[in-house]
Amino acid sequence: MTTERPLEFTLNGRPVVATPRAGESLLEMLRERFGVTSIKDGCAPQGQCGCCLVLIDGQAKVSCVVPAAAAHGREILTLEGLEAAERDLFARAFVAAAGVQCGFCIPGIALRAKYLLDGNPNPTRRQIARAIDVHLCRCTGYVKIIDAIELMARGRRGEPIPEPVKDGRLGRPLARYEAVKLALGERPYVNDLARPGMLHGAVALSPHARARVVRVDVSRARAHPGVVAVATAADVPGERWYGLIHQDWPGFVAEGEEVRCVGDVLAAVAAVDRHTAREAAALVNVEYEPLPPVLEPLDALQEGAPQVNPTHPNQLSHSVIRRGDADSALASSAHVVSGTWQTQRVEHLYLEPESALAEPTPDGRLHLYTQGQGIFDDRRQVAAFLNLPEDRVFVELVPNGGAFGGKEDMSIQAHTALLAQMTGRPVKLTLSREESVRLHPKRHPITLHYTVGCDAEGRLTAVRARMIGDSGAYASVGGKVLERAAGHSCGPYRVPNVDVESKAVYTNNPPSGAMRGFGANQAHFAIEGCLDLLARKVGIDGWEIRWRNALEVGDVFATGQVLEKSVGIKKTLAAVRDRYYEAKQQGRAVGIACSIKNSGIGNGADEWGRARLVVEADGTVALYNGYTEMGQGLLTVLVQFAVEVTGLPAAVFRPRVDSTYQLACGQTTGSRATLFGGRAVVSAAQKLKADLDKGLSLADLAGRVYAADVLVNDTTPLGAPVPRIKTHTAFGYATQVCVLDGKGRVDRFIAAHDVGRVVNPALCQGQIEGAIHMGLGYALTEELPCVNGMPATFALRELGVLRARDMPAIEVILVEDPEPEGPFGAKGVGEIGLVPTAAAVAGALEAFDGVRRYALPMRDSAAARAMSVGRRQL
Ligand code: FES
Ligand code: FES
Repeated sequence: MTTERPLEFTLNGRPVVATPRAGESLLEMLRERFGVTSIKDGCAPQGQCGCCLVLIDGQAKVSCVVPAAAAHGREILTLEGLEAAERDLFARAFVAAAGVQCGFCIPGIALRAKYLLDGNPNPTRRQIARAIDVHLCRCTGYVKIIDAIELMARGRRGEPIPEPVKDGRLGRPLARYEAVKLALGERPYVNDLARPGMLHGAVALSPHARARVVRVDVSRARAHPGVVAVATAADVPGERWYGLIHQDWPGFVAEGEEVRCVGDVLAAVAAVDRHTAREAAALVNVEYEPLPPVLEPLDALQEGAPQVNPTHPNQLSHSVIRRGDADSALASSAHVVSGTWQTQRVEHLYLEPESALAEPTPDGRLHLYTQGQGIFDDRRQVAAFLNLPEDRVFVELVPNGGAFGGKEDMSIQAHTALLAQMTGRPVKLTLSREESVRLHPKRHPITLHYTVGCDAEGRLTAVRARMIGDSGAYASVGGKVLERAAGHSCGPYRVPNVDVESKAVYTNNPPSGAMRGFGANQAHFAIEGCLDLLARKVGIDGWEIRWRNALEVGDVFATGQVLEKSVGIKKTLAAVRDRYYEAKQQGRAVGIACSIKNSGIGNGADEWGRARLVVEADGTVALYNGYTEMGQGLLTVLVQFAVEVTGLPAAVFRPRVDSTYQLACGQTTGSRATLFGGRAVVSAAQKLKADLDKGLSLADLAGRVYAADVLVNDTTPLGAPVPRIKTHTAFGYATQVCVLDGKGRVDRFIAAHDVGRVVNPALCQGQIEGAIHMGLGYALTEELPCVNGMPATFALRELGVLRARDMPAIEVILVEDPEPEGPFGAKGVGEIGLVPTAAAVAGALEAFDGVRRYALPMRDSAAARAMSVGRRQL
């Protein structure tokens, strides 16, 4: 249905006419009818992320809540319509300040900045933070975004602003690859892609957490005008069940089976446009026989509990670590503390919801554009789903708008590919925010029972821990998350006696899987709390007890691995020492926490780094690797490794991630892409360099391919009875200090991180700042509560992610303790930034009001109450 009369308005200075359908939003009209892709759909129709900002008659508005009809007679301005000089200034400012990570939020923020600066040419940082309150950024922690807006202001006043750095050598803040295009919204994400004749997909999800599917009737959906195909379980030609570790997740739930969570897919529709596809998906009629859901892990483990997933008993995993004699050690310890810590389910809330595009190609293959964290895993699972050989599916990564672990599992890649195969036409399927939240795995809620002892001087004697995690309806990588929690149960401390068990358990809640930190966060919240409790008993402070117990070279990690190199925890403690004591002397409430985080999956996995450097005829070098860019800056640091080895300028290298070469490395997870991907790039670059050193030019070498496949396979499974335990290739270390103000609000964070070798200081800082932002939300305001297995809210503000005005000052201190197994000494930094954060906040809160908190988020605190978000109470 359309409006009765055409709308006439001005779009970016050009008069245009459109006839939208009734109910169409301005965002939909501008993106779908006019191809304006600088405005993004991060949460429509909530109006709570700011990605869709436009100026209407000079006023800033989020276009997802504005009816298209309201455009009549107005002037609409988007980033595309700015003068070239202004666009250039905005882009240079964001790039120079390293204010862009995944980039999805940036065009909206840049336009907001223009609106702000038009009215206030010289804003303070506080004013900037308030001005961008509507805007959510999940990557940056806002620090460098505010820096960028300050630079924009300077540039507009005619003051010089720094040029983006082009020097790609190690240690230099080389501008992020494609950052200019990202800042201006010119680098397409999957949902920005369009193909001639393209259809649009939509899915029908289960409203029940547990029910038997009696009948799936798609007749009304199929008959809906504009629908080209409807797919159900019966249409899957190949293996309908997939999964990264266990094949326990059906792409479609079939008649006669049970739905296991509210993200289960019953049908998928392809239609001429997205709106029609979604209308048709709503017409899919499913007859259910509701069943009582299993919602608590302890209930799921009871004898006689319904089996949640037909492929596996409810206990998904059981990880055990035993070293020494914890019982005797605890019995003879000078001090013993114990308690139960509880962590919450958290939504990743990457700003770009899941999207996939599948296109049949003339050679009979399917080209799949994906934003997944492991595109070769996507290919393997999609090919099996379609019953095709893998080489019939060409996969290409479109670097995504954030992932944080939530895009490891398949979401809608298989459904999209099936619809393309059924129709013979390109199909794009993009989830709404609500569908995204229902469908992808979350951070695990874990209950952790700890008992920890120490001697009279505060030296740890033993740790006993029992953990139980809610993995929801599908395995995802839940067993590995609980394994990682067990492995990190003792933090970065020397503990001679260890008795730890962890279990991952199926329930009918939304699945839990990978999320930045991967189980280490939960374990650190508990063990760091125990350190604080013991320090008080011993009569020493938080810094001192950590210093006395911090791991050193030659010490044994919780898993039994002897740490032989690159143990930087004491360096990070030393780096914050003066600030910690100064703040205490000033009478501030201060908390401190340390952390350790593996680099590389380890635990016996074969891990690959793979790279191909291909010299092109145009004098560039294509840099292929198997890992994913998701805003963390991987492609930029890989270029820096190639620059450092070859001496060629950074602009020569063109990073690519697709299946032109067989570069399957597995998921971009475990803070490992810099470590393994970097090693492969270094090795390939050395081969190119050898030819350059013979006096050959790139023109001479055109067509040559320099290959490197690096296999690391010397780690050992948890608990393996081997003489030399090596559960992980490398570890990062950190110490963070949280300082409150006189009203108990988080005022300042100091974060010292051992990153091995700083490849790009700006990107490295940005990772840590963004992680602290996520960690503060985890500590104080973020939660995804569920009622009967259904998320209680999909509203971004109610999920508790912090806004710019909520952020404290952050001081990042980069420490280098080179990792011999890493490229030029580098190791991962992507996850560890929020591993200690919640514990540091808990310590500061206790110093402020005397209350030791054991459950996240710590909403009952002055610090949480001061935040502008996260006020939802169930
Ligand atoms: S998409 Fe409009 S505010 Fe999020
Ligand atoms: S850079 Fe802001 S959401 Fe990724």
